[in-house]
Amino acid sequence: MEEKLKQVKQKLDKYGQEQLLDAYNRITDEKGKQDFLDSILTIDFNQANELYESSKQKPSFANSKIEPIDYTDKSKLSKEEYEELKAIGTKKIKEGKLAVVTMAGGQGTRLGHSGPKGTFDLGLNSHKPIFEILTDTMNEGRKEYGADIPWYIMTSEENNKETEEFFKKNDFFGYPENLITFFKQGKLPMLSTDGKILVDEKGKIKEAADGHGGIFGSMLKDGVIYDMKARGIEWIFIGGVDNVLVKPIDPIVIGLAEKKKVLAVGKSLVKANPKEKVGVFCKRDGKPSVIEYTEISDEMAEETDENGELKYGESHILCNLFNIKAVDKISQMKLPYHIAFKKAKYIDKDGNLVTPTEPNAYKFEAFLFDAFESLDDMAILRVKREEEFAPVKNAEGVDSPDTARKLYTDFHSRK
Ligand code: UD1
Repeated sequence: MEEKLKQVKQKLDKYGQEQLLDAYNRITDEKGKQDFLDSILTIDFNQANELYESSKQKPSFANSKIEPIDYTDKSKLSKEEYEELKAIGTKKIKEGKLAVVTMAGGQGTRLGHSGPKGTFDLGLNSHKPIFEILTDTMNEGRKEYGADIPWYIMTSEENNKETEEFFKKNDFFGYPENLITFFKQGKLPMLSTDGKILVDEKGKIKEAADGHGGIFGSMLKDGVIYDMKARGIEWIFIGGVDNVLVKPIDPIVIGLAEKKKVLAVGKSLVKANPKEKVGVFCKRDGKPSVIEYTEISDEMAEETDENGELKYGESHILCNLFNIKAVDKISQMKLPYHIAFKKAKYIDKDGNLVTPTEPNAYKFEAFLFDAFESLDDMAILRVKREEEFAPVKNAEGVDSPDTARKLYTDFHSRK
């Protein structure tokens, strides 16, 4: 213990993070002290410093050449084209080459729901929680194509246990248990505006999920990629947990990827208005990319083309298909971190709980779509909003349970 404490002190001293010793000194039990020292030793302080420095820089695309991206409009395919893509994709699905990944590591803070977002009841007559709605879609696809479709659910440190228990308690909503695998995304410490690692309400290092860009690394580390290869998977659909009209088992998107010989396809839809909170697909220095809504300038968001349409209007809806080769490649790469300035409760140096009313801390998140640039090319498939996008993000107003419920029931009454 003495040796470890010495080691920790040296480290904290070297990186200017001595404030963590105050938190250590307040711990009264030996096990708690030991755990705290261990958690300090797992921190990559170099990375924390680099992240802090990056918080002073502008978004990286500021110096890049940004252009609109080409897309294929699903509703404008000829009957022959459509049938051809469908046949290619259907064959792959029937052969068991498709896997689905649902990213359910987020906190759902905006929704104001305290459990994992997937456990949220949207208020449908059936009162099905989001996870059950998604499982219904998975089950329908599995039955339609008569194929085993492995489903990987990414959780985070905060919600892993609750998510797994929820599925178990509900008998996996009828999905074969041997086809469901849970894995956890990574986390990073949160920093104060002067670069100090914060301590949370429980006296532990304040950490937050490191964004879904960490998914590829976590898939490698947790053996998910290995498992996919062992099952002969070629195509992986990766989507968020919060879209109740998500269409993860879609032969057209696979057919398009195969036909265009690309390693990824992103589904897009027409941006509703310049202010809509969606990322947009574009070309950045000639490579496929997404500009997130938190980083796009008003000017770029409002720019229109010669037809009066938004120049950057192909919304990214977090419904992307990757080839296993792309996943393999990206899992070896380091994606950049984006910075969010958040309100974060913490314990100050005197042991008092601070509940800020204004943002006070940096959170660092990697975005999965930053991986697109590493692929030579990708295809974009424009789909219809009313068929594939009913997000549940906010407690009320746009993208809320009310809007998602309406979109969901309208879609299912048309089927
Ligand atoms: C996201 C996209 C945005 C897109 C919009 C469409 C990001 C960063 N941006 O915005 O480009 O237009 O959806 O609805 O994703 N998640 C994790 N782990 C994390 C963070 C998020 O699993 O660490 C999951 C969430 O559970 C959710 C999804 O990713 O399923 C989206 O996360 P969220 O942070 O809500 O993104 P949006 O801001 O809505």
